[in-house]
Amino acid sequence: MSLTAEQLATITESPFKQDFPLLAQNPELTFLDSAATAQRPAVVLDAERRFYETMNANPLRGLYRLSVEATASIEEARKRIASFIGARDEKGRPQANQIVFTRNASESLNLVAHTLPEVVNLGAGDEVAITIMEHHSNLIPWQQVCRATGATLVYLRPNDDFVITQGEIEAKIGPATKIVSVTHVSNVLGVENPVAAIAARAHAMGAKLVVDGAQSVPHLPVDVRALDCDLLAFSAHKLGGPMGIGVLWGKKELLDAMPPFLTGGEMIDSVTETDAVWAPVPAKFEAGTQDAAGSYATDAAIAYLQQFGMEALEERECLLATYLTDSLAALPYIKIIGPADGSRHVGAVAFNVDGIHPHDVASILDMSGVCIRAGHHCAQPLLAWLGELSTCRASVAFYNDKADIDRLVAGLDMVWSVFHGRQ
Ligand code: ALA
Repeated sequence: MSLTAEQLATITESPFKQDFPLLAQNPELTFLDSAATAQRPAVVLDAERRFYETMNANPLRGLYRLSVEATASIEEARKRIASFIGARDEKGRPQANQIVFTRNASESLNLVAHTLPEVVNLGAGDEVAITIMEHHSNLIPWQQVCRATGATLVYLRPNDDFVITQGEIEAKIGPATKIVSVTHVSNVLGVENPVAAIAARAHAMGAKLVVDGAQSVPHLPVDVRALDCDLLAFSAHKLGGPMGIGVLWGKKELLDAMPPFLTGGEMIDSVTETDAVWAPVPAKFEAGTQDAAGSYATDAAIAYLQQFGMEALEERECLLATYLTDSLAALPYIKIIGPADGSRHVGAVAFNVDGIHPHDVASILDMSGVCIRAGHHCAQPLLAWLGELSTCRASVAFYNDKADIDRLVAGLDMVWSVFHGRQ
């Protein structure tokens, strides 16, 4: 699809950049690496500072006002996050006690990989199904689980059009499958996987479904009830929150059944010399002092997104991804790795420049202030399956604009001319 004049007009300028100090103070910078980490709006930086200036105390432990406020700020953040991902009970109340704070999506997924196998009694003869698109965070933990339990790791693979078909879902998820763990959106191909169809098959086979939402929650309206997943992991830093905060949402009965991951202070009800009784979820999974300022700032990051609405941000990002894909496709020396249709890219577009190593491409682009990622994108099995050792990846967020993409294209022309002379 190519954009209409009216659509192009909507991405010609970014009304958002002024909210992001790093972008506002560096107008020459072209940040196209939001799939790795997003920029943070000033409201998030202010919130982090406000926490330490106005309510700094160890949450959960104190009976004095400051500690109570710090505790309340964490609980408010849980409520907002639950609403944001559609985690509501039958009366519409956010399922705040089903939001577990971790350090990042990787830790959330490790928590699941260390505790879910016990619940489903995973062992030899059983299967864990993932996709070939997984980022290492949702791949290595399952390799380890299968090594330890004797279960078999099975990969769902997309077809030539980068779609995981219903046939593939039915072929790879069967009676032996006990756990399915899939990325919602690929951090390399940018495609959205058919999670609801995967959930239907997984549940029909009696398996649990874990979703890695690291690349979807920042870009799409995500609703755990519509996806019908059992567990969802994502990071705050990819949606404009601080680094070092991850989230795990899970169905209550599953979180209740899962044993603790890390043990220590604050995750217990009582302790004797020989035993301990765990606190209810989410405390059971939150050993030690939590990053309360980080949760508070994550609350601010989500509130910032909510004022625009995820539907509107998704629409803008779809136009940006389409313009990006079309602009790259127009360059004769570029090969896009992923769908040709830009509207299928959720943020990320991977590509290679004919005969030029992605690290050289990224380094030369950096000379003109253009930031992209180059390498294997922590998804080496996917790259091997694609027949690539390494790729470039440009990724957009709603704060980007047409000029950012035009500067990338000008930079790529410069890369080409450095190696080949002017065309
Ligand atoms: N998962 C992040 C990326 O894709 C780090 O760049």
